Amino acid sequence: MSDEIIKVPDLGGDGEIIEICVSVGDQIEAEDSIMVVESDKASMEVPAPHAGTVTEILVKLGDTASEGSPMIKLSTSGGESTTAEPEPEKSAEPSAPEPGDESPAPVTATPAPTTSGVTTVSVPDIGSEDVPVIEICVAVGDSIDEEDSLIVLESDKATMEVPSPHKGTIKSITVSVGDKLSMGDPILEMETETAQAAPAAEQAVTESAAESAATAPAPTPVETPPAQEDHKTRNNKRVHAGPAVRRIAREFGVDLTLLKGSGPRGRILKDDVQTFVKDRLSGTATATTGGAGIPAVPAVDFAKFGPINEVPMNRMRQLGATNLHRSWLNVPHVTQFEEADITEMEAFRKAQKEQGVKMTPMPFIIKACTTALSRMPQFNASLNATADALVYKEYCHIGFAVDTPNGLLVPVIRDADKMGLQELGAEMAKLAGKAQEKKLSPAEMQGACFTISSLGSVGGTAFTPIVNTPEVAILGVSKASIKPVWDGNAFQPRLMLPLSLSYDHRAVNGADAARFTTLLSGLLGDIRTLLL
Ligand code: COA
Repeated sequence: MSDEIIKVPDLGGDGEIIEICVSVGDQIEAEDSIMVVESDKASMEVPAPHAGTVTEILVKLGDTASEGSPMIKLSTSGGESTTAEPEPEKSAEPSAPEPGDESPAPVTATPAPTTSGVTTVSVPDIGSEDVPVIEICVAVGDSIDEEDSLIVLESDKATMEVPSPHKGTIKSITVSVGDKLSMGDPILEMETETAQAAPAAEQAVTESAAESAATAPAPTPVETPPAQEDHKTRNNKRVHAGPAVRRIAREFGVDLTLLKGSGPRGRILKDDVQTFVKDRLSGTATATTGGAGIPAVPAVDFAKFGPINEVPMNRMRQLGATNLHRSWLNVPHVTQFEEADITEMEAFRKAQKEQGVKMTPMPFIIKACTTALSRMPQFNASLNATADALVYKEYCHIGFAVDTPNGLLVPVIRDADKMGLQELGAEMAKLAGKAQEKKLSPAEMQGACFTISSLGSVGGTAFTPIVNTPEVAILGVSKASIKPVWDGNAFQPRLMLPLSLSYDHRAVNGADAARFTTLLSGLLGDIRTLLL
């Protein structure tokens, strides 16, 4: 064991130390942030080159960090002085511009000067090649501001948002989720609105060609966004915080957009996150912070109790978990239970099967739901963004949960109300197959009005599904079983299908929910009524 002096690496210039992330006595791992340095171009976290115990801090807040100057002493099993590696630029987080922030944006490639016209925006220097697109934040026709996020890329090291170099309107999008992009690859075309002071000759060229090229500003590492989140909401709330602060915020489940940073230019510091969490726990959160003040579940070291094996959740499961958590916390759920007598339906289904038409109960259930939704449109609705109006939909797209090895997916059958039973069965089989093969496009999982989650082929007597917000209801289907049903004279063996309707009690009242399940039960009990 010996003390080693860790020195400032090449930061591309001097910067001011705005945060020291370690204290004497701390045991740190390789890549843990030692300090945050802010230059006039970017804020950068300087990571530890390897693990050790901090024995002395050789800098203080406000000091200027220059290449080669000592930062800390680290007690390690090695020896001698080391300059922090890897290069901090790799993990550096360019400062997201804030209102009133005069510092230049972290631009690695300058957009070509342009007046109004169509501009191709391409991938800036992202430090790696073939980085997959995990989210497209804009749609054709969107009007966006400079710095609004266009796409999100995720490498094995970081998640990065690629911001727009211009204000303008999206004309076409060249990339799809899953594409692997490298520097210079085109992302989209946009019609720019900002006429920049370009030299006359250049303007003429731009205008005559009505086309130019721009590279997006350097991407910003971001907190992993929840799936299906409204991109406008996310774009409008840019967060000025480094990766270490974002990591802590993620661990505590803190939404950084709710915090006001106390650091230079409003940068969110670790202390801000800690204060926010303390306020939440002590119930002193102010109206501006909002939220439910839910205490965090304490971390448990399971290894203390026996051998364990920690397996990371894949991204799809993480996104699914975020969606379910958000819905569970935001929606006051109530579940209404009912049973449908599907004895006759089953006889019809079996007869069809004998004639070679394979059909599970699902197409009948979907058909019954579209009929019920058309008769009770309050279930084919969503609350508006401020939860003070209902948006009734004049279309009827039905989502259905598919269990895949990678997690739960919800493909959407468009205009399900216009399809017959066989068409519904075929469409369902097609989408479920695509889900299993991870071939569903984002569009095939969007726009549902109502969702059905069937565990009928698995088992169980009832369950309480979580509403797939912004929908207002979801139908859970369990396994049908023969039950004795009293017909007035005797018990008859009938095939009973358990139905569980969870609904958003803000949008739907209990009596309507019971009417809806009674209606469904009636429709499934006498499938001739589905033809009416
Ligand atoms: N009661 C009794 N049997 C049922 C049934 C029910 N409610 N629903 C389906 N079955 C039977 C089917 O008839 C079929 O048997 P058969 O071949 O003799 O006709 C068998 O179970 C298998 O059906 P399956 O192939 O699963 O088709 P499906 O149309 O019922 O379901 C999916 C298709 C995609 C919905 C289903 O495969 C799936 O992924 N379900 C899981 C959804 C989920 O995980 N939800 C939980 C969310 S919290």
